[in-house]
Amino acid sequence: MQMALENSNPKQLAAEQAVAYIQDGMTVGLGTGSTAYWAIQQIGKNVHSGLQIKAVATSIQSEKLAAELGIPLIPFSEVKEINVTIDGADEVDGAWNLIKGGGGALLREKIIASSSKELIIVVDESKVVDQLGKFHLPVEVVKFGYELTRHKLSMLGCEPNLRMEDQRPYTTDNGNYILDCDFKQISRPGECHDAINSIPGVVDNGLFIAMAAKVIVGYKDGSVKELQ
Ligand code: 5RP
Repeated sequence: MQMALENSNPKQLAAEQAVAYIQDGMTVGLGTGSTAYWAIQQIGKNVHSGLQIKAVATSIQSEKLAAELGIPLIPFSEVKEINVTIDGADEVDGAWNLIKGGGGALLREKIIASSSKELIIVVDESKVVDQLGKFHLPVEVVKFGYELTRHKLSMLGCEPNLRMEDQRPYTTDNGNYILDCDFKQISRPGECHDAINSIPGVVDNGLFIAMAAKVIVGYKDGSVKELQ
């Protein structure tokens, strides 16, 4: 019974299909979130069965999980090239532009994705959208003067809300704040990305433009599809 439930988890199905692309000798980027979790679990099993890889993590959370599972980790300073990174997303549009950062790891995720030969995105069907923006766009900002940064972001036509955790501002692994920006819809993701990142105080935003090489979607009916 438990087996049947596990096997019908769309996130797990998509993640496991992506892990099949990992081969001996690769350096692998480990994503963050509940879908990337399943990829890391499967990589851990494969390493246990003899897969020889090195990995680099996009968050402290994923690094801890990988270490627990015995996945060999290397510090980012020692990385020359990442062959493949497997990560989740909060939204994926028809051009494979993404919103990421729901888990607060967007900056490390973008650094690692941009250093990867191939970024494989794994999602369940709820993440596939016609247009980005229903999900509030996470923007990582430095703490200093964040109120002014928030005001400048609002001038772009969104409502930015400081992310909170346990009644305190949420702090990223990099010591910054996140402003979750409600745009309702983002019709020109590339322009939006550049406009946000030109505001002083913004470190980066969760729009990943044309970075995904593969998108693998898991469905409630137990099927998995690699988008073409
Ligand atoms: C973390 C992320 C995640 O990949 C994104 O939030 C999707 O998470 P999940 O797989 O849990 O739905 O960008 O910063």
